[in-house]
Amino acid sequence: MRGLRIAALLTMAGAMMAAYSLHTPAKVGARPDRTRFDAAVIKNAAQMLDQGRHTFRFDTFGDQDFWGGTLQLHKALEGSQFGGVGPGVSPATALAVGLKVDVDALPPSLIAALRAGQVNLSSPATTLALLKQNAVLGVTGYFKPDGSLRSMGIQCALCHSTVDKSFSAPGIPPGNIGHRLDGWANRDLNVGAIVSLAPNLQPVADLLQVDVPTVKTVLASWGPGKFDAELFMDGKAFRPDGKSAATLIPPAFGLAGVNLHTWTGWGSVPYWNAFVANLEMHGKGTFFDPRLDDAAQFPVAARNHFGHVNNQPDLITGKLPALHFYQLSIPAPAPPEGSFDEAAAKRGDELFSGKAQCTTCHTEPLWTEPGWDLHTGQEICIDNFQADRAPDHRYRTSPLNGLWTHAKGGFYHDGRFATLLDVVNHYDSCFNLGLSTQEKSDLVQYLKSLPAKE
Ligand code: HEC
Ligand code: HEC
Repeated sequence: MRGLRIAALLTMAGAMMAAYSLHTPAKVGARPDRTRFDAAVIKNAAQMLDQGRHTFRFDTFGDQDFWGGTLQLHKALEGSQFGGVGPGVSPATALAVGLKVDVDALPPSLIAALRAGQVNLSSPATTLALLKQNAVLGVTGYFKPDGSLRSMGIQCALCHSTVDKSFSAPGIPPGNIGHRLDGWANRDLNVGAIVSLAPNLQPVADLLQVDVPTVKTVLASWGPGKFDAELFMDGKAFRPDGKSAATLIPPAFGLAGVNLHTWTGWGSVPYWNAFVANLEMHGKGTFFDPRLDDAAQFPVAARNHFGHVNNQPDLITGKLPALHFYQLSIPAPAPPEGSFDEAAAKRGDELFSGKAQCTTCHTEPLWTEPGWDLHTGQEICIDNFQADRAPDHRYRTSPLNGLWTHAKGGFYHDGRFATLLDVVNHYDSCFNLGLSTQEKSDLVQYLKSLPAKE
């Protein structure tokens, strides 16, 4: 009896305390976790971050049915020695086409062997061992009991992450194996060369209504750091000047507060994530965009009903909230100490919002417009080819934080400007800015300094 009464009293006290904590207004100096709802928000944020990171790094959304099942890419990876086809992909080849290895996924014994130069970098068996450790960024191998590959799939991390330069070993220069840097554009990655290895490209050829050699020519035209997300919508592989229609892989960091995404403003981050997961990676989910029914602008997409994708079970949609949240949480990294001239950058800051008029579009601190962040080619003195491949026929004002991480491959959507000075020279003539050599160089130093340290 007595025990019961105490228990009841304790329950009451608990309920009163909970009610108190729910209803007391915020007080200066109060505990930050004072209300349950605040605590629930913080807990939710932490969970979303974890889930989103996991999806970004490891989720294939079931796309192994396409990359392995249909294209048979896993067979080219392992080579005939392991029941696949061809010579197989050695770690040396894999690193040469820009694939990156997560040092934190490697067992200490393997790290030691790599450091001692005792690992065979020309054997596909080593690639298989790395895949077994889940150590290759953005690539997942599915294994048979006998150790050969059954299938393979890809993740967001393939194109939108790289590794730092902390690790090197004989035959492995820094920047190939290291700690993950999520959100960084992998400008070493040769997507075209990798896809081209697939033993069965016929389905891609059928989709584009061309033959396999044509598909291979197109894939070979992309080069490192580029991919053509619009090819599978409009079938346009080359620009009118004969150059590849592929665009650079942009970073997926520093995007919080930015309205429209991609070089040409297709939509928001969750829009584009659903687009890519369904239509580019060939994961299994749901996607709706009747703009793709326009057979004049998007003949391939309209023919294949890409604006009306409905897969059951849906392996994508449920993961979009956390994936969105994670991407918005990745900050644009500050430039390394000593990588730019601080005094010049300070002068460049004044010019950026003054004489050079850059802030009319690149509004601080988003470095793009709050609101509708799109412009025609004419407004920035370039052609409209790529803009016309997107629903709004415009280019999105690029957010400029972290430019220093993706200088390789050049600037603007297709890398047409090799250096930041080339970009500044372009604006100087486009807008008749009358910048002196010194002023141009100050602007470049400023661009290299973004994001400014807090
Ligand atoms: C095969 C390489 C590749 C893969 C895989 C890939 N992306 Fe991308 N991503 C690109 C390219 C190329 C663009 C630019 C497309 C364009 O502008 O037409 C892009 C654009 C983006 C953007 C827009 C960035 C900006 O500045 O607005 C985001 C966000 C993004 N991708 C997220 C993802 C996510 C999330 C995944 C996984 C679901 C993913 N990507 C998978 C290559 C890739
Ligand atoms: C009229 C609007 C507008 C003005 C003014 C403008 N920009 Fe841009 N900027 C853009 C757009 C749109 C893009 C994307 C072009 C593309 O994708 O091809 C861009 C791209 C860039 C890029 C390339 C980013 C990347 O990731 O490759 C840099 C650098 C840049 N602008 C710097 C500047 C500087 C410096 C100024 C001032 C001299 C300036 N911009 C003025 C609209 C503008």
